[in-house]
Amino acid sequence: MFVDLHSLFPTVVATEQLRMDPLQVAAQLQTLLALRGDQDSNPDPGCAWTGDLNGVWQLHDHPDFRGLADQVVARVWHYLKATGFDCDQVDLHLQRCWPVVSEWGQVVGRHHHPNAHLSAVVYLSGEGTGDEGALCLHAPRQLNELVPGLAVGHGGPIGDDHPLNQRHWLLAPQPGLLVMFPARLDHSVLENADPDGLRVSMSFDFVLSARPSERPPEYLSPHPHQWQRCQRPVP
Ligand SMILES: [Fe+2]
Repeated sequence: MFVDLHSLFPTVVATEQLRMDPLQVAAQLQTLLALRGDQDSNPDPGCAWTGDLNGVWQLHDHPDFRGLADQVVARVWHYLKATGFDCDQVDLHLQRCWPVVSEWGQVVGRHHHPNAHLSAVVYLSGEGTGDEGALCLHAPRQLNELVPGLAVGHGGPIGDDHPLNQRHWLLAPQPGLLVMFPARLDHSVLENADPDGLRVSMSFDFVLSARPSERPPEYLSPHPHQWQRCQRPVP
């Protein structure tokens, strides 16, 4: 007999396999490679090319990707509902949508998206093995290390792979796989270890606001239409 273990305060990461037409995916890949142009890194040769740093960040307005963006938006509403949001109080804004193309040997370094609330990724390539570079979500802290930092030292005392002390979570890309997670979560992309495989994904950043209202909730940003753009100082 053992005491009951209550794992409290979970972070929700959602995945769904979207149905994708292979011919449409092939056309989307061609479009993205054309948008990438001659540049194939960011610009460090070891860093994957990302559209957000290269002027390609509004794919949701591109005819080849509008339908996919609509599918992702529908899933984000599900995510919000499933995590307790009263969707009647919220407006959802798709702020950015950009491609990430990772060649053999390239990575995306650890980062999060401070410009957004919720992030999503859809993969357009991958074999489901992770060889082309798994997505890595990093635990903000190991909550069961008892005090911050106890798990960091060399040689333990906490095992690296214990399920109640996870440092990270890996997701192997495959075409149509969608993942959604809070934008605050640090994430990275492991090295593309497939010499023949191009890793291609699309990232989405969402921002929540209140609906246009006289009385928006206290900590939800009022709707952008109710903001006032301030005068810049005279030079
Ligand atoms: Fe990211």
